[in-house]
Parts: sequence; structure tokens; C-alpha cells
Amino acid sequence: MSKRSIERVLDEYGAATTGSFVERSEAVSSEKLLGPFVDLFPPPPARIVDIAAGTGRDAAWLSQRGYEVAAVEPVAALREVGMNLHGAARIDWCDGTLPDLAISPAPARGFDVTLLSAVWQHLDDRDRARSMRNIADLTVAGGLVLISLRQGPNAPSQTLYEASVPATVDLASANGLQLEREVRIESMQQADRAAGIYWTWLAFRRLAR
Ligand SMILES: C[S@@+](CC[C@H](N)C(=O)[O-])C[C@H]1O[C@@H](n2cnc3c(N)ncnc32)[C@H](O)[C@@H]1O
Repeated sequence: MSKRSIERVLDEYGAATTGSFVERSEAVSSEKLLGPFVDLFPPPPARIVDIAAGTGRDAAWLSQRGYEVAAVEPVAALREVGMNLHGAARIDWCDGTLPDLAISPAPARGFDVTLLSAVWQHLDDRDRARSMRNIADLTVAGGLVLISLRQGPNAPSQTLYEASVPATVDLASANGLQLEREVRIESMQQADRAAGIYWTWLAFRRLAR
């Protein structure tokens, strides 16, 4: 994906902070999204990074469960929204953009769980390859990587790319990530459901290096 394409996506999310995006994001149940995987998580206080954290809904939910959570979000306006909405939760908010994922401030060590909810559709194949390598590097051996793939109409578009489950599993495997679970989750936003959009969640285990 060209730099301009990533910038276009981030501009759209920056502008979305004044629309219904924040309300719609916060209306999604983290319990329903992450519930099918919590038995794979290490017990708290393990370290979790939520990449492309948006409003911090899932970061806050995980923090409330006793995890040490870093929320990486490139859009400053969204980080601000998240800090205001979830100020009571202990979350380390960081700047960072896929595929390079130069997280600022840099984490002192790797993460036990790396979460990517609803962002893979914004990356093209080349950036997915670089992103997967960096995600694997960020995750400790034995750690968990969770990625959701948007499935359904309206992709490709200027800012949306189709995501195939087999291609993602192959890419992950080439980077030392072994598929442990695949779950289909219906879209929680009524309009998306009506449009036939659903999400395939993939859970990978980071193999020893
Ligand atoms: C659909 S929202 C999902 C937010 C949150 N993870 C959730 O599930 O509600 C997509 C998020 O991806 C972020 N994003 C888009 N492109 C990105 C990139 N190249 N690197 C990191 N984050 C990106 C956006 O700023 C936005 O917060």
C-alpha cells in the first residue's frame, strides 16, 4: 500500500472521531468478541498489546480483567478519545502505525498477547507481509496473536482490501505463528450485518524462535 493510502485511511479515522464511529465502536461487546479466546490467554497480569486500538474499548476491558495493557493507535484524536473515555482503566497509550510498527514509547519487552481487531482490511498484501513479521517479533515465544479478518462486500475499495483466511494462515506460519483456533463472529453492527459483513477471527501461537 502506498504511503498515501495509509494516510488516507488514517485521515478518515481522524475525521470519524466527530461522527458516530466512537459511539458505534463503544457499543460493541468486548466480551462477545474476545470471549471465544479467553481460555487461550495466559492469566493476568500478562502483557497485552492492542494494535490499532481505536477508542480503546478492548484495551479497557482487558485492563479491567487485570492485564497490563498497551494500546497502540496512530490517530492522535482517537488516542485522546480513548484516554477520555477510559481514563479510569490503566492503559499505556502509544503511537504506532503498521506495517513498520515503530511503537512510541518503545515497549521494554515483548507481549504475551498481541491483538489486532478490525485493522487487517486496511493493509494490502505487501504491508500485511511486513506487518506479520513485526507482529511476530513483538510477541514472546508461546504468546498469542489474535487477528480479525473482515469478510463480505465492499472490498476492495480505496481503503479496504479483501482478506483471505488461507493466505493469512500461510503468512502467519511463515513467520512462526501456528494456527490454534478459527472462529466466525457475526458483525455486531446492524448495518454491517444487513450488508452481509462478518468477521473471521484467527488465534495463533508464537512458536519458539
Ligand atoms: C475499524 S477501527 C478498529 C478499532 C478497534 N480495534 C476496534 O476493534 O474497535 C480501525 C482502526 O485501525 C487503525 N488503523 C488504520 N490503519 C492503520 C495502520 N496502518 N496502522 C495502525 N492502525 C491503523 C485506525 O486508526 C482505527 O483505529
